[in-house]
Amino acid sequence: MSIGIFDSGVGGLTVLRAISEKFPQANIIYLGDTARFPYGTKTTATVQRFAIDNTQFLIDQGAQTVVVACNTATATALSTLRQKFSIPIIGVIDGAVQEALQLSKTGRIGVIATNRTIKLKSYQKALLQKRQSVEVFAYPCPLLVAAIEDGRLPDPLLQSIVAHYLQPFKEQQIDTLILGCTHFPLVRAQIEAYLGPGVTVIDPAQSCMRDLPHPPPSQEADYRFFVSDDADRFKKVGRLFLGRNLQKFLHSVQCRG
Ligand code: DGL
Repeated sequence: MSIGIFDSGVGGLTVLRAISEKFPQANIIYLGDTARFPYGTKTTATVQRFAIDNTQFLIDQGAQTVVVACNTATATALSTLRQKFSIPIIGVIDGAVQEALQLSKTGRIGVIATNRTIKLKSYQKALLQKRQSVEVFAYPCPLLVAAIEDGRLPDPLLQSIVAHYLQPFKEQQIDTLILGCTHFPLVRAQIEAYLGPGVTVIDPAQSCMRDLPHPPPSQEADYRFFVSDDADRFKKVGRLFLGRNLQKFLHSVQCRG
């Protein structure tokens, strides 16, 4: 059995990494839809179309479970995918919402994500549906996605982008922050340093594991990587997202054409 994972680009590699740490013997097929990146600025109908196409591709490659390793695609397309395909389809929002509600003591929860995820109020609705008493403060951070994707920005610049977006949370006195975009775990250290120890940071890449059916172990895990454009750039930036033990699999990234 193989787990298929897709994202608009390299961000979903944070989810792949978390899955491979929990299930080191799982076979994984990853698709980075780099030709159509970013999803966060596109309309719902467009992202839904991309998500259906990506899921079908992963199934054709042999995936028996698909993880939508992109908050924007989860927000826009998860229910459509579940209606259309009969295999288990896992998103990244539900697990993070559950974890935030478990860990927040004050019920003041922050969310940072792409424009589309924030506009759809996916996190806000899911949190309030489960607990009406929470207060949710949600902001889009588009520049942060671009800065991380760039892969070369010096730390002080990243830190000032983080401070620019996270500054309202200081006044709002949140005690929990959901990283509602698969890129953001890469700047988790800067985010934690800015917000201080009083704020618990939730990474949906970790929380989505709650919903993932346990894959049967194979002899030796097989990783296959596909992109829709520019395999070389994916390899270069992808290295930042993956630990050394997984970087070797990036050598054979295939362009799906
Ligand atoms: N991976 C996307 C997400 O988690 C962010 C990048 C994009 O806009 O496509 O929402």
